Amino acid sequence: MNIAMPVPRIENTIETNLSMEKAQLLSGLLSPQARIDPKYFYDDLGCELFTRICELDEYYPTRTEASIFDNCRAEIAAALPDAAQWIDLGCGDCAKSARWLEHVAPTRLVGVDIAGDFLQSSLTGVASRYPGIDCVGVVSDFTQAMDIHTLISERPDAPPVFFYPGSSIGNFDRPHALRFLRSIRHHCGQDGRLLIGVDLVKNRDILEAAYDDAQGVTAAFNLHVLEVVNRELNADFDPERFRHRAVFDAEQQRIEMQLVVDREQSVRFADEATRRFTEGEHVLTEYSHKYTIDGFGAMLKEAGFERYQVWTDPRQWFGVFLAEPGR
Ligand code: AVJ
Repeated sequence: MNIAMPVPRIENTIETNLSMEKAQLLSGLLSPQARIDPKYFYDDLGCELFTRICELDEYYPTRTEASIFDNCRAEIAAALPDAAQWIDLGCGDCAKSARWLEHVAPTRLVGVDIAGDFLQSSLTGVASRYPGIDCVGVVSDFTQAMDIHTLISERPDAPPVFFYPGSSIGNFDRPHALRFLRSIRHHCGQDGRLLIGVDLVKNRDILEAAYDDAQGVTAAFNLHVLEVVNRELNADFDPERFRHRAVFDAEQQRIEMQLVVDREQSVRFADEATRRFTEGEHVLTEYSHKYTIDGFGAMLKEAGFERYQVWTDPRQWFGVFLAEPGR
């Protein structure tokens, strides 16, 4: 059998910015509070480790969000516009989107992800199962710039539905989260929507266990980012000299993931720079902000969404918000 498979169109906005990306990564590592953008977690092994995190007993967000989606899918789908452009921000293998497609029946699926190698095969899979949906991939770091305006404008009659699950919004600090929501609001026009999953504030022990599991998968995930940096910057971090730490900052209402220096060391970055890391200091690798339902609702309003609905689980551990511009 030889059936021609549709080949999804892929656009790439990253390659042009490679040297800037490296300069930013290096400057974060050389700044007084050393930091690494969490996007660097997700090389092939990092993606695998993250998949394992999502299956851990302690890591409740993925399965809690999935249970809300499963319980409320018909109701949520009924509140979405017809013939939409479904825009999956951070689509990965498109598995989360795939569960919505037959309920929502969009005319187009736009999968946006920073991991480009994956995108082609993910979208080819969706395109072959849903021949009626125009599948487009965009390789982009949309957390820096939402560079999909031209693409969306190709279909002026198909309102965009932005799908941003998993509480990835938690990676932004609050001012940047607001800025990000504003930019989505801007792209929504009159009839667009934002469907977003948000992890809610809860007991410290539950939160800290979710980011420091008994099996050490999250620790391995965190430490692995040093290998990614070694490769990206031709650096010589020794991950054995670092230790994973996850703390809940109750004032900022966020988990902070850190790599604490156990034994001091000098790290070389190619031939460009060296930095000494002293015992006890840490590299900041990730924020995961937690919201209250009212707090996130207020932020949606501040970003220009006049109305929203929210669905949650019986313990109120996770919130699924559907925001609309209103008129
Ligand atoms: C993918 C950013 C939502 O913050 O919970 C999980 C990443 N880091 N365990 C989160 C993560 C450590 C995750 N997000």
